[in-house]
Amino acid sequence: MAESKLFNAAANTKKLSGKVAIVTGGASGIGEATARLFADNGVLMVVIADIQDELGKRVAASIGQNKCSYVHCDVSKEDQVKSLVESTVLKYGRLDIMFSNAGIVTNSDQTVLDLDLSAFDNLFAINVRGMATCVKYAARAMVNDHVRGSIVCTASVAASKGMKRRTDYSMSKHAVLGLVKSASVQLGVHGIRVNCVSPFGVATPMTLQAYEKSVEEVESMYEENMSLKGVVLKARNVADAVLFLACDESGLVSGHDLVVDGGYLSH
Ligand SMILES: NC(=O)c1ccc[n+]([C@@H]2O[C@H](COP(=O)([O-])OP(=O)(O)OC[C@H]3O[C@@H](n4cnc5c(N)ncnc54)[C@H](O)[C@@H]3O)[C@@H](O)[C@H]2O)c1
Repeated sequence: MAESKLFNAAANTKKLSGKVAIVTGGASGIGEATARLFADNGVLMVVIADIQDELGKRVAASIGQNKCSYVHCDVSKEDQVKSLVESTVLKYGRLDIMFSNAGIVTNSDQTVLDLDLSAFDNLFAINVRGMATCVKYAARAMVNDHVRGSIVCTASVAASKGMKRRTDYSMSKHAVLGLVKSASVQLGVHGIRVNCVSPFGVATPMTLQAYEKSVEEVESMYEENMSLKGVVLKARNVADAVLFLACDESGLVSGHDLVVDGGYLSH
């Protein structure tokens, strides 16, 4: 008996076998790496939701149309998020995993002294309101269909630390922690887990554009600030953490902020 259990565990290397997932911001960076990892782990269908339609369609096609599809969805628009979740459930039968990951950073180096409030509103519409909207509709679908699902949000190390610049971004990621903690308390009764990942710096289109630097320059800038040496944080490292939170291996983990930062926050 014990032996056959061991055999079954070894055979079951596909951690998301039969699951249906949505990845917002899945056309690029951390979302794209996660969609690919979900597909490698046996997901029944991963729906990439993004506003970069050409890129999103290309990523979905390269993963394979039997495992991945693309849907245009601006997370700051409630009707689009509602329709994303509803169409996913209609086409694929259920929703097991929501990776609410879409986010932006403001391009200016503003401090609180010169806070640009219209840029602030735009960022909050995506990073905070959009994140909450995705959690709301994913949770509704899971509750309706009695699915003991997993919701994972992307926060940041900026959710737990003051920043010298980009006040609005830091505030928005602190809000994601509040959302995750409250939603995990409220949804636990339905068997739904809610967690977040908090990456330190990864060279993605978002950070390359924000710093106007090359991949090598951005990676070396971040590496200097990690206590773990000889490694570079990649989108795949964050995707590994998301996979853990999405799959049954983390079945007793809820309300948790899984920091992926090479020890940055510890010093
Ligand atoms: N890269 C980092 O260093 C880092 C660190 C910590 C947290 N994060 C967070 O990770 C998440 C992903 O960022 P990334 O680094 O992969 O950047 P990225 O720019 O590569 O990917 C972000 C994706 O989100 C999409 N997006 C933007 N606005 C959207 C909207 N309104 N609706 C739907 N999709 C939208 C973009 O089109 C893009 O494909 C963000 O929430 C970001 O704040 C990134």
